[in-house]
Amino acid sequence: MNHHKLIKKFNKQADTYDRIREKQYQGKWRKALLEEAHGAVLEAAIGAGGNYPYYRQEAIKKIIGVDFSPKMLEKAKDADEQYSLPVELIESDINQLKFEEDQFDTIVSTLSLCGYPNPKETLESWAKWCKPNGSILLLEHGISSNPFFSILQRTLDPFAVRAVGCHQNRNFKEIISRSPLEIKKAEDHWFGVFHLIWAKPQKRR
Ligand SMILES: C[S@@+](CC[C@H](N)C(=O)[O-])C[C@H]1O[C@@H](n2cnc3c(N)ncnc32)[C@H](O)[C@@H]1O
Repeated sequence: MNHHKLIKKFNKQADTYDRIREKQYQGKWRKALLEEAHGAVLEAAIGAGGNYPYYRQEAIKKIIGVDFSPKMLEKAKDADEQYSLPVELIESDINQLKFEEDQFDTIVSTLSLCGYPNPKETLESWAKWCKPNGSILLLEHGISSNPFFSILQRTLDPFAVRAVGCHQNRNFKEIISRSPLEIKKAEDHWFGVFHLIWAKPQKRR
């Protein structure tokens, strides 16, 4: 989909994601994941700051939050004050940024890989930007391990992309197994639709 159209789609969802943060939707999963976030953090597609309530303030040196939707970033900025986190927000397509190798202790992505045109390439960049013993923390949704549900997801995929800009049919287990990420721990939820992944980069030195 055209980049400009996609940004407009996410702009329209900014109020919803604001409420998601306030109502702490998926809070148990986000909390479990972000327990491990530390040091210099890159949060890809930060949205309205849905993860702010779960960062351990004392463990965080800085959070660089990237999103290409200005409306999402407005909501994230409003929430900044409430959570007193050291956040710097950048309005950009995450796939167009160039960070230094080994720049981050932690890279966080929640519900973002479903929207990128090439998630494998995105993961390759993250593995490069993350320190060798750093953490790449993911909460993502994809194709269910339940055959009936997965047929439904495949059927609905083109409509979901048009409506909210996100794919329902991605197989993250397969995508991650072909990426330079080493999984330390993983959990599947809701018939394998949601994945919680604690990973680190595989570095060849
Ligand atoms: C489903 S929302 C999730 C927001 C947030 N991560 C959360 O968990 O509440 C997806 C977010 O990804 C952002 N996004 C999608 N593609 C992007 C890209 N290529 N670069 C930067 N942000 C992107 C959207 O603007 C939106 O804020």
